[in-house]
Amino acid sequence: MNKSLPKQKAIQRIEGLRQNIEYHEKKYYVDNDPQISDYEFDLLVKELEKLEREFPDLVTPESPTQRVGEQPIEGFSSVEHTVPMLSLDNCYNEQELRDFEGRIKKIIPSEKIEYVAELKIDGLGIAINYRNGKFSQAITRGDGIRGDDVTPNVKTIKSLPLALDTTQDVEARGEIYLPFSSFQRINQEREKEGESSFANPRNAAAGSIRLLDPKEVSQRGLDMFLYSIFCDREEKASQSENLDFLKRFRFKTNPHSKLCHSLEDVLAFYQKWKEQRDSLDYDVDGIVIKVNSTRHQTLLGSTAKFPKWAISLKFPARQATTKINDILIQVGRTGALTPVAILEPVKLSGITISRSTLHNEDEIKKKDIRIGDTVLIERSGDVIPRVVSVIKEKRSGKERPFSFPTQCPVCHATAFHPEGEAVSRCTNPSCPAKLREALLHYASRRAMNIEGLGDAIVHQLLENKLVRNIPDIYDLKMEDLIDLERMGPRSAQNLQDEIEKSKKRAVARLIFALGIRFVGERTAQALAAHFNNFDALAQAGHEELLQIKDVGPKVAESVVFFFDQPENVELIRRLKQAGLHFVHKKGSEEGEKFLTGQTFVLTGKLSHFTREEATAIIQDLGGQVVSSVSSKTSYVIVGEAPGSKFQKAKSLGVSILDEFQFQELIDSLE
Ligand code: IVH
Repeated sequence: MNKSLPKQKAIQRIEGLRQNIEYHEKKYYVDNDPQISDYEFDLLVKELEKLEREFPDLVTPESPTQRVGEQPIEGFSSVEHTVPMLSLDNCYNEQELRDFEGRIKKIIPSEKIEYVAELKIDGLGIAINYRNGKFSQAITRGDGIRGDDVTPNVKTIKSLPLALDTTQDVEARGEIYLPFSSFQRINQEREKEGESSFANPRNAAAGSIRLLDPKEVSQRGLDMFLYSIFCDREEKASQSENLDFLKRFRFKTNPHSKLCHSLEDVLAFYQKWKEQRDSLDYDVDGIVIKVNSTRHQTLLGSTAKFPKWAISLKFPARQATTKINDILIQVGRTGALTPVAILEPVKLSGITISRSTLHNEDEIKKKDIRIGDTVLIERSGDVIPRVVSVIKEKRSGKERPFSFPTQCPVCHATAFHPEGEAVSRCTNPSCPAKLREALLHYASRRAMNIEGLGDAIVHQLLENKLVRNIPDIYDLKMEDLIDLERMGPRSAQNLQDEIEKSKKRAVARLIFALGIRFVGERTAQALAAHFNNFDALAQAGHEELLQIKDVGPKVAESVVFFFDQPENVELIRRLKQAGLHFVHKKGSEEGEKFLTGQTFVLTGKLSHFTREEATAIIQDLGGQVVSSVSSKTSYVIVGEAPGSKFQKAKSLGVSILDEFQFQELIDSLE
């Protein structure tokens, strides 16, 4: 191989690149404060990879290129922890917390006790060993004495340093977790693939860390907060110093830990996070209270199971029990029949819940869910909860098993359940339920964004047979609209204007809006960017589609199938006739990086968008969503009951937008 540099120079360059990459990984994954674009970062990694290919003897296990091992692993061996990984005693209310302090005061009666309050991350406890400052082994908690060696999988977590600036042996411990955003993405992907979804981020994290292929693990989006550290040579005087020490080694620690001078401070911390836990992108199930001073910790000691100097105060469960009054079938845009449980309304962390998805027929069978059953429901991040289990002891005998329909409940066409797939689908291409969903999707904000064409109007347009397919909306006249219920001349005019405006939307939106199976927004953008005009896409064959990044065989097949259908050929003809944009304008249209280089922070409860939606909108426009505010943050979007990020944004003079202003900002880019 022709070498691009003499070896001596390569050694220096490789070292420089590694340091630079590590620095930017830390900025990006730990500090949420990226300093360079993804593109610039990729260039650094590519250059390092190239040099390492030229000089394979210079590759070290700590090189940032070595996070993801090439080979799947065989399994996990059991390893003994150097120091047992104790668990935590739990308490559930103020009194029990005061009792905990009472026990401490008995042993240390005359000294002031300080605490560190931390969030209790609902993930998996992991110990990581660094030998001679180098990442050497990661072990699950297991039974506290022995755990499984999951080193190659943990190494893929990009916020973890592979080398520390020390020659000491170090053990760091903390919690591996899956952010809600990754959890939702994984579940959506699994549902699309017909696989069962994970019940909560914790299970998804546990499943991910036990995968045998580190490449797959690296795609999952796991992350880790560290909360304790042991070094062979020095002991820190307190937990707050331990946290600082972790930070100095570039570990990611949770930003919300608080030094508390009294139990009152601890209780205020608890109250605050009990109210604000939904604003975090990860699940927390309580707080952990730790006596700060290491000397005090030693005086207090441990039982066989827990330290006596720490305890967790749990948040009230996000679970509740209620009754299933009925099971209905919803027909989606693709004709998928989804069972939905109609629940006796129940409050769950401030929200009244009256429906829960049951996913599919197998889920009902597997959990033996019957109408009339009392069930345990759970909300984890999502507003729509799921049924965890049936409480069989509460059965009276009157519960009715649910027989899954073999016909579409709306048009009565046969429902088809393909072998190996999780869902049944209505086979009627012009099923009104499909059309309703297709119209709502077409008009939705992320698609053609036709404001005012929501549930109620679509329902009436279909009932009155004013619309029989998507292009019909472009033939609607003022007199058609004005006669609809709750529609005056002004709103009819507004709706017409909105419909008119939609003709100018970018081609990527149109592709997405058509609801082609497996074509989400990103794929739609990739297709629009590749084919300069819509007709070229409609005529593309498998081979050409497969050339496009992110397009696999499934998407290619689905796109070809869609444009082969005579009714879709007609649909496209009519949309063209109506004057929709069929040509993709490079560089000038929405969806093309209007927000490049801008960073956003979300805080508080958003009511018009879910966090995921807001994040996806920003990312699609080239912006980045990070979790902490710095003076470099471009905008902070503030919802209801915002957290400390709002205060920080104000004090740093960062631009603050409410949801309305955020919407205006997006609209102005269109
Ligand atoms: S301290 C000896 N701090 O909760 C101290 N644990 O239910 C033991 N956890 O096994 C752990 N967040 O896996 C600590 N801030 C935090 C934590 C935390 C989550 C987990 C940890 C532990 C489990 C006990």
